Amino acid sequence: MRIMDTKFVRGFIKMADDGFQQGWHEANGGNLSYRLTPNEAESIQNRLSDHDPWKPIGTSVPGLAGEYFLVTGSGKYFRNIIVDPEASLCIVEIDDKGENYRVRWGLVEGGRPTSELPAHLMNHEVKKRTTNDQHRVIYHAHTTNIIALTFVLPLEDKIFTRELWESATECPVLFPKGVGVVPWMVPGGRAIAVETSKRMEYHDVVIWAHHGMFCSGSTFDLTFGLMHAVEKSAEILLKVLAVRPDKLQTITVENFRDLAKDFHVTLSEEYLYEK
Ligand code: 13P
Ligand code: ZN
Repeated sequence: MRIMDTKFVRGFIKMADDGFQQGWHEANGGNLSYRLTPNEAESIQNRLSDHDPWKPIGTSVPGLAGEYFLVTGSGKYFRNIIVDPEASLCIVEIDDKGENYRVRWGLVEGGRPTSELPAHLMNHEVKKRTTNDQHRVIYHAHTTNIIALTFVLPLEDKIFTRELWESATECPVLFPKGVGVVPWMVPGGRAIAVETSKRMEYHDVVIWAHHGMFCSGSTFDLTFGLMHAVEKSAEILLKVLAVRPDKLQTITVENFRDLAKDFHVTLSEEYLYEK
């Protein structure tokens, strides 16, 4: 099957362009990865090249041995993905130890997968295990309002989660496990990948202080929707803080408990503290 005609490539491109339209991908900002199903990987085997040598991932992901991923290229602009996907994206294969990758398709003008490949793969490894193989999408975006919030709220999971939940009623339903927060770190390496994937053990959303956000999900729609909802909640919160930092009223702990009951979600007590 022609790779450009597959449903997963078309879904990936649409999601990337949706993110660009939101203003989350200035220059080469952000990256996206998708773990192919065994059937998807099988359906494109005769379209893959095996000329690219194996290269070290820079971390170890034994839980992903033999998996295939569609990922954005390092330094490539989200803006250009819809125009020239074969130059902006690639499909990589992971070796049988989870130590090396090789490019099997894409990046026709050269390049390498995103510099955040260690973070993407370590998050995928955690989510494959903790979601019983359901999560396949990891998305990193430079979401303006969440970044702004990391300058004004303490960098604590408890505070970010509660403030984001209070800012839009849908939030506790969409991310009942709250958000994790990573303090500022140098991007692109193993260290930030380790800190992010630790938080992905529990959360589907991890914020990078003064940088952006990572979201995990089972489909392109659910993962994009999650990023969109968190970012919109941050926008509302910033507007409230700008106009009246001492909120006149808000969604109360009691309200959260009623919501959890009717929407059949479990909200951790950790976030339902009295202020
Ligand atoms: P890449 O261009 O290597 O994907 O890096 C962009 C980015 O957002 C780094 O955090
Ligand atoms: Zn980034």
